[in-house]
Amino acid sequence: MIEIKNNIYLNKINITNIYKKFDLPLYVYNYKKIIFNFFIIKKIKFFFFFSIKSNDNIFLLKLINKVFFKFDIVSIGELKKIILISKKKPYIVFSGSGKKISEILISLNLNLFSINIESIQEIFKIYYLIKKYKKNINIMIRVNPNINAKTHKKITTGTKKNKFGINIFNLKNLLYLNLILNIKIIGYDFHIGSQITKLSPLKKMFKLINNLYKNNKYKYLDIGGGIGVDYYFNKKIINFSKYYNKVNKLIKKNNIKSKIIIELGRYIFCNTSIIISKINYIKNNKNIFFCILNLGMNDILRPSLYNSFHKIESFNKGRNTSFFFGPICESSDKFLSKKIKIKNNCLVFFYSTGSYCKTMSNNYNSKNKIFEIIIYKNKLKIIFKLENFKNLIKNYV
Ligand code: LLP
Repeated sequence: MIEIKNNIYLNKINITNIYKKFDLPLYVYNYKKIIFNFFIIKKIKFFFFFSIKSNDNIFLLKLINKVFFKFDIVSIGELKKIILISKKKPYIVFSGSGKKISEILISLNLNLFSINIESIQEIFKIYYLIKKYKKNINIMIRVNPNINAKTHKKITTGTKKNKFGINIFNLKNLLYLNLILNIKIIGYDFHIGSQITKLSPLKKMFKLINNLYKNNKYKYLDIGGGIGVDYYFNKKIINFSKYYNKVNKLIKKNNIKSKIIIELGRYIFCNTSIIISKINYIKNNKNIFFCILNLGMNDILRPSLYNSFHKIESFNKGRNTSFFFGPICESSDKFLSKKIKIKNNCLVFFYSTGSYCKTMSNNYNSKNKIFEIIIYKNKLKIIFKLENFKNLIKNYV
């Protein structure tokens, strides 16, 4: 849907002209692509809870709410956003390794679909509150299976060195304990990592689940999110349908009769948005060549935090480069791409920015968070306004 001639076109709309209107870096989402992704997800017969941490734009959450009505949250801020957009009470799974008492209390009062607990101490806290306030709630147990998801080490969550979940060896104790506490456990929850591109970790996971089920079967099995997207555009990673076909086979092979929950985040919006940015300076320091953009690590943190790759493109006839830098006062404010041709003041655009880019952006160096716009039914719609100075100072006393 993206075409590059002498300009960049998205669904036949000239993005250069859009950029000129704002003359600032901005996200451009493609509504058609979003609907296409929804269609793919709908084909899977599992219960899909959208992991809001990957993208919490209110306009996009409304779309999710209309079509899927189910969310995976990790904070009360996320919960409040959902309450804001939804007239009826959607299905909500509350994950997270450090829930506060106040957060558990809100969950009890709203009677969420489930709280996914991550420690035996958390069970005690919930038990105490359930008794004190005479409420009840469904619980899923997040298991730490000690399986390496073979993804980037900073987004691996399922090994014993990761803080997440209840170690598989402590699980038995918890289940014995629950014979006394009698808390309403409805399922197991596994999320072993994000940007998973291989099937082998899943095979291990299902083998382990099979073992667990010999002793305790529950109504739900939450297998988390995690499927990777093709940031390199080289088709070397497993594709969505293949991945879930395989999951289906593993479920059948292991004779699992529970209802399956998936909590996808990244896959839904990642490839539905690009960021457009402009080259502000090209300088040559003793034959080392620096190309400086008007977009920084405060806007898109993933490259400096995880060394992650976003494809960058342009449409120029200038010189070659594969390194880009932002305006932030940090040496790690740097983006790596394949070699592309650039010249001063030209536009470049970053692919695959719809997930974990805006939600992880920040105001470092007192920078405003940038615009998000969407090409919606062939028109442009602003779905996040550029922050202003007032936003930056409003909480100071
Ligand atoms: N469920 C749980 C319990 C999670 O912790 C996560 C993501 C998901 C579901 C959704 O996973 P996904 O389908 O998006 O892979 N900031 C990192 C990604 C961190 C993922 C955190 N947890 C990045 O930019 O790559």
